[in-house]
Amino acid sequence: MKTKIREMKKEDIPTIMILEKELFSTAWEKEMFIEEIEKQYAFVLEIKDKIIGYICGWKFIDEFNITNIAIAKDFQRKGFAKDLVQFLMSKLLGEKCFRFFLEVRESNDVAKKLYEKMGFSVIGLRKKYYHSPDENAMVLGLNIIDNLKKG
Ligand SMILES: CC(C)(COP(=O)(O)OP(=O)(O)OC[C@H]1O[C@@H](n2cnc3c(N)ncnc32)[C@H](O)[C@@H]1OP(=O)(O)O)[C@@H](O)C(=O)NCCC(=O)NCCS
Repeated sequence: MKTKIREMKKEDIPTIMILEKELFSTAWEKEMFIEEIEKQYAFVLEIKDKIIGYICGWKFIDEFNITNIAIAKDFQRKGFAKDLVQFLMSKLLGEKCFRFFLEVRESNDVAKKLYEKMGFSVIGLRKKYYHSPDENAMVLGLNIIDNLKKG
């Protein structure tokens, strides 16, 4: 399947909100996506001009926090989330940003598997970080330089 990754635009938000509501128990508000677009690290993955996934996050000097990633149900388990994470990481490596962080619900085994596969490991826990339902967040991190040194 031929895919295209491009920057997220404000016009994409209605489509993204539909996916967001289907995929998360607490969906982001559209203002949160506007903020991510303004921070310039928000991307969508398209197949035949149809958005089927997205990723976003914030950069602070040489650190990057992935704040959201999702793939439409019918397109899951085809490697598209992996493609989005790899795309973002290679862009950031080019900007000399080597450390990545994210939070994930403790019960989100699928997302944890994805991040584990991408080389992330658990570095902390934020108690009751999420609501509806209340749940702890696991904090995951990945330091590309350390990983390269380990071989
Ligand atoms: C988490 C999510 C983004 C994964 O997207 P995806 O495109 O299906 O993931 P990929 O196909 O790229 O899978 C990459 C790896 O993740 C793991 N994985 C993905 N889906 C899995 C599943 N259902 N069961 C077990 N492992 C899974 C596997 O290790 C997989 O590699 P493999 O297929 O080579 O074994 C998707 O399930 C999703 O949108 N979930 C709802 C939103 C969400 O929870 N986002 C994360 C918030 S922190």
